[in-house]
Amino acid sequence: MEGIDKRFPGVQALKDASFELKRGEVHALVGENGAGKSTLMKILTGVYRKDKGRIFYKGKEVEILNPRMAQEMGISIVFQELNLMPHLTVAQNVFIGREPRKKNLPIFIDEEEMNRKTKELFDMLHMKIDPKTKVATLTVGKQQMVEIAKALSFNSEVLIFDEPTAALSEAETEELFNIIKKLKNQGIGIIYISHRLEELKEIADRVTVMRDGEYVGTVNMNGTPIEKIISMMVGREIYETLREKEVEDNAEIVLEVKNLNRGKEIRNVSFKLRKGEILGFAGLIGAGRTEVARVIFGADPIASGEIYIKGKRVSIKTPANAIRYGIAYLSEDRKRDGLMLNLDVLTNLILPSVKEFLKSLGFVDEKKAEKKGKEYIERLKIRTPSLKQKVKNLSGGNQQKVILAKWLLRNCDILIFDEPTRGIDVGTKNEIYKLLNELIKEGKSIIMISSELPEILRMSHRIIVMCGGRITAEIDGKKATEELIMKYATMYEN
Ligand SMILES: Nc1ncnc2c1ncn2[C@@H]1O[C@H](COP(=O)(O)OP(=O)(O)OP(=O)(O)O)[C@@H](O)[C@H]1O
Ligand SMILES: [Mg+2]
Repeated sequence: MEGIDKRFPGVQALKDASFELKRGEVHALVGENGAGKSTLMKILTGVYRKDKGRIFYKGKEVEILNPRMAQEMGISIVFQELNLMPHLTVAQNVFIGREPRKKNLPIFIDEEEMNRKTKELFDMLHMKIDPKTKVATLTVGKQQMVEIAKALSFNSEVLIFDEPTAALSEAETEELFNIIKKLKNQGIGIIYISHRLEELKEIADRVTVMRDGEYVGTVNMNGTPIEKIISMMVGREIYETLREKEVEDNAEIVLEVKNLNRGKEIRNVSFKLRKGEILGFAGLIGAGRTEVARVIFGADPIASGEIYIKGKRVSIKTPANAIRYGIAYLSEDRKRDGLMLNLDVLTNLILPSVKEFLKSLGFVDEKKAEKKGKEYIERLKIRTPSLKQKVKNLSGGNQQKVILAKWLLRNCDILIFDEPTRGIDVGTKNEIYKLLNELIKEGKSIIMISSELPEILRMSHRIIVMCGGRITAEIDGKKATEELIMKYATMYEN
């Protein structure tokens, strides 16, 4: 791809961008949120039309007019945001629009054949998913696997992964890397977008860096330190942020959970959260951390157990209850629980706190809302041409920031952040850590669920480790190490 330009209303997403992929290589594409990575790939796969520039495929100049054409040429993509139909089965999703037909009655779909073919595909990839299950019942990680299988089913020669591991567990990530290595050995070219720069060491041959829609450079992964790639991405040095303020000795206990149970997902969970504390929740995906958060937020019912807020026993039945008690929950699955994609940035921002912005007669005080909205856009460096932009038009990382901002704006005392930096670039991660520091200084309390151990270690005063629905350890943030956490995160009992 050469000299590619792309403009959206109010945004120059790509300026003279270029990219090159060889057969049988894994080529990583990195850059800050909004740098233009996804847009460049959407042009390559015919989702968007470029304004300017040229694309050469196997040496010949091509015009890629639509996604179907890209697929037929052998270019497939696994999107950053999942694109499956939740109410259909796995097999129906894989073969949507090109379902195998019954031989003697072609007006009917041959479900059996479709399930068989899907199973074959999964077997080849060593995936254990039943083709007949409904997609809605799968975890985000498993849904991602279905997307990958679907992309592969087109006999692709170029395969694009847009942040594939953001929602995968460690085991699933390993599995994916094995698949990628196999595909690469078969001569397939792979474009790999990720904010997890450490994983590039394991998977990438070359890395191309983009900044502000422009091409910055391409380096061989072998022999290039991560710091060098980071400085190409952000154009400056990044300093590590650490938790800045310790919890006061006599700090009030703002939240206490006693003997919480819910089936096999939550088993006898008890813990306390103090004022001004960052309580890290570590564990592997599926350990039960999100389940605990959802129960505290009233999104799922509890089977048994007690919840106390500032010493008073409460019964939280709905998220509305929880918000009234001053609890905010930033969910890990932004598409399902977090955002109204078709509404604009400002509406999304003020939605949980709309009461604060009402004038008489129930009208929203637009001026007040806009002022607050602008303040938070600046604070979190949300990249959007205006408050009126639809959220679906923001880059993946900037959507995540909108969710963060809307809960901060709600001014709750207890903030539960579930994977707050997923999909967020290195520079902005630091901004978010700074913000967490500001929040605890203001006297707020934070539960931070994260699969990124470096972030848990840097920010938590205390760390709770979960495994198989149980708390297996509580570790002082100063004494914790990755090894120690991993030991307890894999401590299974029945
Ligand atoms: N359909 C659209 N309409 C308007 N603006 C858009 C659209 N798609 C992307 N943009 C804008 O183009 C810019 C580049 O976005 P893009 O999604 O390519 O970023 P990215 O590098 O993939 O970021 P991230 O790491 O956050 O996913 C952003 O400023 C984004 O808001
Ligand atoms: Mg993107």
